[in-house]
Amino acid sequence: MHKKTNKIRQDFLTFFKEKNHVILPSSSLIPYNDSTLLFTNAGMNQFKEIFLGQKNTHHLRVATVQRCLRTGGKHNDLDNVGYTSKHHTFFEMLGNFSFGDYFKKEAIEYAWELLTSEKWFNIPKKKLWISVYEQDYESYEIWKNIIHINPEKIIKIGDKEGIKYNSDNFWKMGDTGPCGPSTEIFYDYGNENENTQSSFIENKNNRFVEIWNIVFISFNRISKNKIISLPKISVDTGMGLERIAAVLQNVSSNYDIDIFQVLIKHISTFSTTKCSNHISLKIIADHIRSAVYMIADDVLPSNEHRGYVLRRIIRRALRHGQKIGIKEHFFYKLVSTVINTMHADFHILQNKKETIQSILKKEETQFSATLKKGLKILDYEIKNTKNDTLSGKTIFYLYDTFGFPVDLTNDICREKNIKIDYQGYKILKEKQKKRSFENNQFCKNYNNDIVINDTCLFKGYKEHKTKSLVKNIAAKNKFVQEISNNDLSIIFLNITPFYSESGGQISDIGKLYNKNACFIVENTKKYGNTIGHIGRLIFGKIKIYDRLYSQIDREHRNDIQLNHSSTHLLHATLREIFGSNVYQKGSLVTNKYLRFDFSYSNSITIAQIQNIENIVNAKIRDNIPIEIKELSLEEAKKKKAMCLFDNAYSSIVRVVFIKDFSIELCGGTHTKRTGDIGFFKIISRSSVSSGIKRIEAITGQTAINFLHKKENDIHDISTLLNCDIDYIKEKITKLINTTKHLETKITTLQHQENISQIKNMMKRVIDIKGVKFLSKIFYNYEHKSMRIMLDQLKKLLKVTIVILINIINHRFTIIVGVTKNLINDINAKKIIDKFMEKTLGKGGGKKDIAEGGGKNTKKIPEILNDIEIWIGDQLKNSC
Ligand code: SER
Repeated sequence: MHKKTNKIRQDFLTFFKEKNHVILPSSSLIPYNDSTLLFTNAGMNQFKEIFLGQKNTHHLRVATVQRCLRTGGKHNDLDNVGYTSKHHTFFEMLGNFSFGDYFKKEAIEYAWELLTSEKWFNIPKKKLWISVYEQDYESYEIWKNIIHINPEKIIKIGDKEGIKYNSDNFWKMGDTGPCGPSTEIFYDYGNENENTQSSFIENKNNRFVEIWNIVFISFNRISKNKIISLPKISVDTGMGLERIAAVLQNVSSNYDIDIFQVLIKHISTFSTTKCSNHISLKIIADHIRSAVYMIADDVLPSNEHRGYVLRRIIRRALRHGQKIGIKEHFFYKLVSTVINTMHADFHILQNKKETIQSILKKEETQFSATLKKGLKILDYEIKNTKNDTLSGKTIFYLYDTFGFPVDLTNDICREKNIKIDYQGYKILKEKQKKRSFENNQFCKNYNNDIVINDTCLFKGYKEHKTKSLVKNIAAKNKFVQEISNNDLSIIFLNITPFYSESGGQISDIGKLYNKNACFIVENTKKYGNTIGHIGRLIFGKIKIYDRLYSQIDREHRNDIQLNHSSTHLLHATLREIFGSNVYQKGSLVTNKYLRFDFSYSNSITIAQIQNIENIVNAKIRDNIPIEIKELSLEEAKKKKAMCLFDNAYSSIVRVVFIKDFSIELCGGTHTKRTGDIGFFKIISRSSVSSGIKRIEAITGQTAINFLHKKENDIHDISTLLNCDIDYIKEKITKLINTTKHLETKITTLQHQENISQIKNMMKRVIDIKGVKFLSKIFYNYEHKSMRIMLDQLKKLLKVTIVILINIINHRFTIIVGVTKNLINDINAKKIIDKFMEKTLGKGGGKKDIAEGGGKNTKKIPEILNDIEIWIGDQLKNSC
């Protein structure tokens, strides 16, 4: 039995094609329109809305090979990678799905046939074990009576901790979403003649490995504690390609299968390790696959969100490269090998090969540099540790600023016999995590506890005002019959013209009213399939079944539309100027401005910005009609519509045409003609993260107001400068030259002043035990000059301690210099510390020079006297 991985993938699809399944492509690793998921983590993700009954499908039976990533969130395999033989961050999931078509019996029969039939995978039946959800009697009976599995080999798995559905055999997509009981098929890597249920449960050395999970999607988990039945029951199955390949290639580790071995051999050529089984080799092999696929799906390394996961993965791989003695930049060189081993998605990867290589190379170069900087800091901190323990603050700083992995810090410290304050580091990390969670829109959901299973017809593409019926009202996280006060509440209607935030376009605002009441809508949000109108009642009462007019604020909507249509023009223009490699990476369309993030690595010049403005404004002047058509996805693709997601599993899509200049899939609202925009002005350009640029722009009257303000500012400047607007530049150049000239003069005068101060001070030098001691208090002097004088005094006096203090605005600064020949007896840092002890100020520095400052200026002369005596003691003691 030895089947190549690529053949297994193909056989799986052929089998299900023969069982009347439609083969669909994998969706992207970035889930489309699903804020509950960071990455696609299962084959069923792209069908979530179909499972939930929110979307119809033409195909009732589907099979896919889905690229998946499990690195964060619920299904997190990152920490296991390399340490177990079965876990990966990136893997391919073979899956067959039934949407209200076949159910338990057929799903189980198909899986069994594919795995055991001679024609297909031909796995000996005696090698397979089954688990079922304890309460799923039906599945148990099917396995026992139809498939004829020995009941000894069917394990019932119940709920943990007595919590309903809290079982390994009850699959959930995440904290919310489709879920249901599952039955799993396990492969026994041990001696099948020596098995009992207890050896299965114990599962020593991972002898029994789950290879196929068959989920009977029956519920929707709508919140932590609520689960509702679905109208249609469906099947979702998933088999990890790498695991089944290990079985069919007779190897116990996924890393020993053909496609991994090619990769591991390539990595070994860069390394000094002789051990072909080294954990680092496996980690690198896993991580390069993830990195390649993430970048192919348009994730770029950055410090936040998905980009941060990618960065962590790359850095972890590079760190492991170091561990096995790799000295050169190697990671990007593995890209071709990944692409050549992966027959699935080969063309997508091949087309982006160079981009992927260059992004990885850049990241690797950057990381080597930060590694160097980080090591320098670590070195310094290790030398200055107290109690031989590196502080949590330093570990966190290295991690947060330099991406320095904690295990690396730990390794280096261990080599130098330094302990690390891991607990302190963890506290800081938790704090940061909490902060980023709070800031993270990704996790935010307005009024989470409101769950509603209803629909609302959106009429806002054509109408601004509709007659609506109140279907539900919520206030203070509860459904209520009526509202009569001004508290923030949510009204659910049967029909609405209100657009709720989606695809970057913000929500409409407006009012719901009749002759008895008026409710101001401040925001709208999607709640499942319906729309919540969030706002406050300003008079009267509103109760369920009331009839109202719902009317959006037209001016607000118009302003949004100008920005939305301009976003499409901008996107098309960017691709025209910078090439078709430019992709939208994020978009925000508000009534005030638009923000557009896109992939582009080089810097953008002012001339290019002006060129963009010229093209967009020319299109505005052309006054092109903006047409919106509903097309099949195929037709839209034929017309070369920009699909910002290629996994929208929807047969009909909405396409916005600005002639053939811009054709984009979009659910938002737009102006009728480009001329409506009036005027387009870019107000800022910046870099969001490596390889991602941001443009912010304004339109219409807002853009004109912006220019008026600039004009007024220039007018004010000309008045201040007392010159004509046309001469502003000339006048400022003159002023700058004058300032420079004056500065040079001041420096010369200051220098002279310093010389005379030094002369005076030399007269006041006293002798303490053969050491020349000098102290002086200045008022309103320049700190920089004090530093220069201190250096000169040290040179002139040769064996000396100098203390210079400056008092300015009731604060003081101090600088202490000690010549190097004295620092074994007394040093500048000690003197500063003593001074600060008495003044409660702050300071620090080195042995030969230290500085500080504080507020307590009153007793400085006395303190200086004390310090002088103390220095005398110190010198005496040290003699
Ligand atoms: N969704 C299930 C899983 O991921 C079966 O595909 O295991």
